[in-house]
Amino acid sequence: MTTNTTIPVLVNGSAEDRISSLDRGLLYGDGLFETIAVAGGRPRFWLRHMARLQAGCERLGIPCPDADRLAGEAQGLLPDVERCVLKIIVTRGTGGRGYGPPADPQPTRIVQRHPWPDYPASCREQGVRVRLCEQRLVPNPPLAGIKHLNRLEQVLARQEWDGTDIMEGLMADWQGNLVEGTMSNLFIVQDQQLVTPDLGRCGVAGIVRAVLMELAGELGLSVAVRDLGMTALREADEVFLTNSIIGIWPVIGLDEHAWSRGMVTRQLQERLAGLPEGDDQ
Ligand SMILES: Cc1ncc(COP(=O)(O)O)c(C=O)c1O
Repeated sequence: MTTNTTIPVLVNGSAEDRISSLDRGLLYGDGLFETIAVAGGRPRFWLRHMARLQAGCERLGIPCPDADRLAGEAQGLLPDVERCVLKIIVTRGTGGRGYGPPADPQPTRIVQRHPWPDYPASCREQGVRVRLCEQRLVPNPPLAGIKHLNRLEQVLARQEWDGTDIMEGLMADWQGNLVEGTMSNLFIVQDQQLVTPDLGRCGVAGIVRAVLMELAGELGLSVAVRDLGMTALREADEVFLTNSIIGIWPVIGLDEHAWSRGMVTRQLQERLAGLPEGDDQ
């Protein structure tokens, strides 16, 4: 399975690392992706990832590859691998006239296996410092929520800082509403309520975000999805970030503001870690 790169990859089921220079994913970002944690040799939240991919394909009008086929290809890259990151990319393939898509698109499927990133345990256990990015997110409801390939806002935002003192950047829209991190979703805890920004205008509707919103009730927490500004963030009891690879990172600092890793964050971390591996609930 290994090709001329060190990343094992399948393109349309073949062990090769090439796509056409006319692929619309390359030309226009005309596609979607999923980044999936593999734990105990099993992709975590597989069905949820497939559902978001399917929803994204429907939104963009791309025929979604069969989930069983993707599962087979993913499994082909996973023998004897306990922990890694699986990335699935689906583009509309080649063809069409300029931006106009082809009448009968033949999507490109790319399945990659990446090493598990070596984030220090302190990120999870003690928490991380974040910055507020100057780069804003542009509201665009038809693209909101889905994990499409156009990530230039995040690429610009991520160039705003270096080093490991700051581990993530928060991104706001042009009205100053906080939306998410460059690679994560944002939650605050205020008076036993979980609050996470509304993603109806922009942002990626994260898998871990959805899981936590469902788990919250078990911990006696209510959940609110609403606009969240800097004042609410400053006044929050706890702040944390989520994604499929980091799980939950408590936020402990932003400029002069400080929070500690609170009880709710801790309980949610335990609850998330305690879900069965490969759990698809
Ligand atoms: C911009 C952005 N928002 C949110 C998320 C969190 O999504 P998930 O929980 O599905 O990993 C990610 C994950 O990569 C992301 O890139």
